[in-house]
Amino acid sequence: MGRKEILDLLSEKPGEYVSGEIISKRLNLTRAAVWKQVKALKDAGYGIDGVTKSGYRLLSAPYDIDEWALQSQLNTKFLGKEINLFDELPSTNDWAKESVQKGGGHGLTVIARKQISGRGRQRRQWESPRGGLWMSVILQPQLSLSDAAKLTLSASVAVVKGIQEAVGVEAGIKWPNDILYRGRKLAGILGEVAGEWNVVQSIVLGIGLNANVEPDQLGAGIPAISLLEILGREVDINRLAARILENLEKELEEFKLRGFLGLRERWLSKALGIGEEVIVLRGAESLSGVFRGINNDGELLLETGEIMLSFSAGEVRLRSHSGEYFQALS
Ligand code: BTN
Repeated sequence: MGRKEILDLLSEKPGEYVSGEIISKRLNLTRAAVWKQVKALKDAGYGIDGVTKSGYRLLSAPYDIDEWALQSQLNTKFLGKEINLFDELPSTNDWAKESVQKGGGHGLTVIARKQISGRGRQRRQWESPRGGLWMSVILQPQLSLSDAAKLTLSASVAVVKGIQEAVGVEAGIKWPNDILYRGRKLAGILGEVAGEWNVVQSIVLGIGLNANVEPDQLGAGIPAISLLEILGREVDINRLAARILENLEKELEEFKLRGFLGLRERWLSKALGIGEEVIVLRGAESLSGVFRGINNDGELLLETGEIMLSFSAGEVRLRSHSGEYFQALS
């Protein structure tokens, strides 16, 4: 009891002082206990102005991930209603998958300030230092297996929109769900099945976003970029997480209600490289053609001469021929 309640009280009247006496009466705490909690909040990055006789005033919330700061600006029905926040985890996707085994349900969200063994697609390592947004959500969407596989496409649309709304940066999607900015990787999505398909179909969607990550802390394997580098300043990670979760919830509801066609349109509107000459790599084989977007199964469409070929996400990798998109991403 204390921190959250004090923040709730202070935020009831934004910009106004609330006296220590009122706080201690309303929360049934001694004045010394109130002072101690306020100090702990300041240490956690809250800007709180304390003036003798007037009381306390909330000036700002931390940019670093913080449960109250996130929840207070999150407007969702089910996503992120339960948030598990850790300073450090091996991988939020692994934590979420274990939590499914213990009954963790639809919408449960887990965030770590740092991951020790963050994972990317195709078993790549995912650098996850402090300052990034490393988050996974559990979904039990009651969709067919093939539709559930398309949820990573919903997530990529939600991440692009969330970033745009939170900090005004326009990123794009490299098929199927890499989030790029000027040819460099800003965010990635890892969708995994948790538990048995025939029990409760649970999907874990992991989102990794290089937010306040210094350039020298980014993974060296692929050209990567962070919001810190793009904007030249730190961003509010709570705001980013809230906008991404809201957009993801919207995308999931739209998908359930109206199916893939709408999602396909939204995905295409954020996709990079449509209509461009690209190279598709399948093992040692390489095919050149024009990237024509995705079909109704979310598969990549490659026009080669008269023929339209389609490829599923696990099967191939996409490269740009000459442009800046997708360079050196392996
Ligand atoms: C990719 O390869 O593009 C996917 C990267 C996904 C990284 C995120 S960070 C949160 C979650 N936990 C993980 O271990 N991976 C995902």
